[in-house]
Amino acid sequence: MTKQEVIISHDLNGDVERAIRRCPHDRLFVLTDTTTLRLCWPLVGGLPSLREAHMITIGDTDENKTLASLTHVWTALQQGGATRHSLLLNLGGGMVTDLGGFAASTFKRGMAYINVPTTLLSQVDASVGGKTGINFGGLKNEIGVFNCAATVILSTDFLRSLDMKNLLSGYAEMLKHGLISDEESWMQLLRFDIEAPDFGRLGSLVAKSVAIKEGIVEQDPTEQGLRKALNLGHTAGHALESLALEGGHPVLHGYAVAWGLICELYLSTVKCGFPTERLRQAVGFIRQHYGEFDFNCKQYEHLYEFMRHDKKNEADIINFTLLGGIGDIRINQQASKDDIFEMLDFLREGL
Ligand code: GLY
Repeated sequence: MTKQEVIISHDLNGDVERAIRRCPHDRLFVLTDTTTLRLCWPLVGGLPSLREAHMITIGDTDENKTLASLTHVWTALQQGGATRHSLLLNLGGGMVTDLGGFAASTFKRGMAYINVPTTLLSQVDASVGGKTGINFGGLKNEIGVFNCAATVILSTDFLRSLDMKNLLSGYAEMLKHGLISDEESWMQLLRFDIEAPDFGRLGSLVAKSVAIKEGIVEQDPTEQGLRKALNLGHTAGHALESLALEGGHPVLHGYAVAWGLICELYLSTVKCGFPTERLRQAVGFIRQHYGEFDFNCKQYEHLYEFMRHDKKNEADIINFTLLGGIGDIRINQQASKDDIFEMLDFLREGL
């Protein structure tokens, strides 16, 4: 996996044009979903180098991150005459960049791709770091490969049309990056008013957040060790997300991560001495902006089972990434069923 170029863009059109020109190709394809085709494509579609591009469009929710959509993309590449020297530009949220990245990585054993992520969540997480894939057999991101985009272009121009829930969803991953980084980054995020954002300032925070992720991915691109730091909040968070989905009341990924952070910072306090005052601060911020996750103690067993089946585990052991303090990362921490039930009590009842 080679290092990717991440551009914090202040000139979206110029940066997209230059990124395409820097990547020699015979044919150019653009992947959008139905929403990004309508809302985001107009921001770049007039560029000279995109005039001849073959457009490919898929459905616009995570339910479309399937083998059927992937087949649709492979077919469109084949029918459009794509070769190993063609280029795919993915314009969309995490679903588009993950699926498009996987389609490009596997078509004729791999062609280059560029990510232009259009949601805050995909800008600070999915589009950077080379994780590509699709959902399969009822499991998220079950099939995929590590393979970086040639270039990732991050522009706040796309964030202005995002609704507040999607902004908050992305912000949860930024909170995670602050927690695994340092006190200053964490405090900057707590002080920023994400519900009335200054987009210039948000752009700087995004740049910092992505730099934190890149620093980790560079050291451990295929998640053998340190990259597990990026799973903070996700063992519990994925279980909450799966429970909500199964119950017919899906929650946005970042909301589940925010509630997962409450859970795993609590475990961090119990098992690694994470300071109570910091826990109180994080819980206060998350409750204020993300509200409460609606569940009861009859669902604990089910949540426990979801955690046991998380693909990040080895054998039957549930692995957590915890913190001894802000930036003091402790990977491969195990918790008993009693610990996990106590953690869920904490999520329901608080301090
Ligand atoms: N989303 C976590 C990672 O990229 O490793």
